[in-house]
Amino acid sequence: MASKLTPLLWRSGLRALRPIQRAQWRSFAVTTPARSDSLNVHRNTPENNPSIPFKFTPQNEELIKEVLSRYPSQYKKAAVMPLLDLGQRQHGFTSISVMNEVARILEMPPMRVYEVATFYTMYNRNPVGKYHVQVCTTTPCMLRDSDAVMKACEDTLGIHHGQTTKDGLFTMTEVECLGACANAPMVQINDDFYEDLTYETTASLLKALKHAAELTGAQPGATGLAGEAGKGAPTGDNKAINEQGRSYEASGVKVPTPGPLSGRKSCEPAGGLTSLTSEPWGNETLRKDGEL
Ligand code: FES
Repeated sequence: MASKLTPLLWRSGLRALRPIQRAQWRSFAVTTPARSDSLNVHRNTPENNPSIPFKFTPQNEELIKEVLSRYPSQYKKAAVMPLLDLGQRQHGFTSISVMNEVARILEMPPMRVYEVATFYTMYNRNPVGKYHVQVCTTTPCMLRDSDAVMKACEDTLGIHHGQTTKDGLFTMTEVECLGACANAPMVQINDDFYEDLTYETTASLLKALKHAAELTGAQPGATGLAGEAGKGAPTGDNKAINEQGRSYEASGVKVPTPGPLSGRKSCEPAGGLTSLTSEPWGNETLRKDGEL
């Protein structure tokens, strides 16, 4: 009897194991994931450790009051992002002391602030140069030659992704889409977008900013709008920009204007209008100057 049952037991046992054998786990990633701890780990350094005191300026304290007035008092921690942004603008980067001060003001556990600051890449948790050059290399920019823009940055500044120039003026980072794909390729420098770039216009732009910073004696690490630095007089360096793009004059000095550096005004078709060119029916009218 046992000899008759044995094959049956084997068969049923194997059948029972079949679903387990069939279960296969397949990874979604086919390439080796590049693991990085730079986004979520803090290590004390001489310029970034909790013993460095940080206080908001009286002017920023006024701004904080205004920001907090937008939220019910029991939800004031909702203001964590604008306060971190203020701290970064004042201090130059979002140091651990900035985060701790924001946590103190908002009466929230510091860990909750660290979680926000480490999630958003716009919070620079290490010092950056006066000009933080963020080069977009996502597909639309890449298809319109963001490689040339990257190369222009590397050649002009002598640094690579994630590095800061020795004089502390420029930090260069490679970023994902910044939402200006219609004017690709582009870079963000501090708060400003420079668009429709080529190798030449990128190099000229960086040289013009460097020249302006040198003439004004701008201090490394003191962030501000790129245009605000210009008190010098860039001349030959921004020739390509003046020829193809725009520049504006402040205190008798020409500085590059944020926006397209190709001659386009905005994100209109580069080759001129191809549709909606005739007078629309109804009571709509086209502009008389023919612009739109
Ligand atoms: S892909 Fe570069 S701005 Fe969108």
